Amino acid sequence: MKKILVATEKPFAPAAVTKIKEVLDNAGYELVLLEKYTDKADLLKAVEDVDALIVRSDKVTKEVIDAAKNLKIVVRAGAGYDNLDLDACTAKNIVAMNTPGQNSNAVAELALGMMVSIARGNYNGKPGTELRYKKLGIHAYGNVGKYVAEIAKGFGMDIYAFDPFVDKAKMEKDGIKPLNSVEELYSTCQYVSIHIPANDKTKKSIGYDLLSKMPKNATLVNTARKEVINEEGLLKVFAERDDFKYVADIAPDCKDEIEAKYEGRYFFTPKKMGAQTAEANINAGKAAAEQIVDFIENGNETFKVN
Ligand code: 3PG
Repeated sequence: MKKILVATEKPFAPAAVTKIKEVLDNAGYELVLLEKYTDKADLLKAVEDVDALIVRSDKVTKEVIDAAKNLKIVVRAGAGYDNLDLDACTAKNIVAMNTPGQNSNAVAELALGMMVSIARGNYNGKPGTELRYKKLGIHAYGNVGKYVAEIAKGFGMDIYAFDPFVDKAKMEKDGIKPLNSVEELYSTCQYVSIHIPANDKTKKSIGYDLLSKMPKNATLVNTARKEVINEEGLLKVFAERDDFKYVADIAPDCKDEIEAKYEGRYFFTPKKMGAQTAEANINAGKAAAEQIVDFIENGNETFKVN
């Protein structure tokens, strides 16, 4: 019997685990559950004899891959796979996949929610501002970016996007104004919402040069990864501009300094919450289980990322 491990330091909603179990039961596979683990040793032990692994932001390092003697496939139930050591997977002929799009709406709703919240002074009772007619720049028009645009339209925002990998005609068809460069996006838009992946090219790519160009009363919204921000540049902009605000799904490393000095100009979730909805958990968890079954039974490698 094939053994499938779901290892989630931040557990799925119970309904998602039920769905995963249903998919695996139907295939005649066994579900092994490792939730809320705090010790890496628990993960190393749990992967020893499993055929497949489902994770969220859990770190699948070379050590984990080496410990998993029977592993054939690892699926990141989510979009960003910066937590997987792809080289280690490839070296052992292990297929790595993600489940793109499955949790995107949840992330987009949080982005807009944080924008409303910061525009209202985090609900401090004083007059805030509205999103209607404000310029929103979407930095990367992928699965999350598209949902952000769709929701922002409902708020009556004026929406721009920069994405060199997406056809401009497609953006225009969606009612979005495509811009030619990342510089143009940041200098045009009062709100910028980041949706780029974290990789060698993007890490620390958003810093002083871009942020200092943002129009008056700028708000940077980050539901992507903290690693894409150059925090030295971020702190410099905070210090120079008292109209600059930053909201993020998981705090930057320089959180303490921002919290100590810049009250009312930030909001950070205590734990990564973007994809933390029952719907997103069900969609991503179910997709991960189905992709595993389809790979093992039929060799289907759609969504392979290595
Ligand atoms: C993703 O990349 O899909 C999101 O960041 C969600 O991450 P999570 O599964 O750890 O909530």
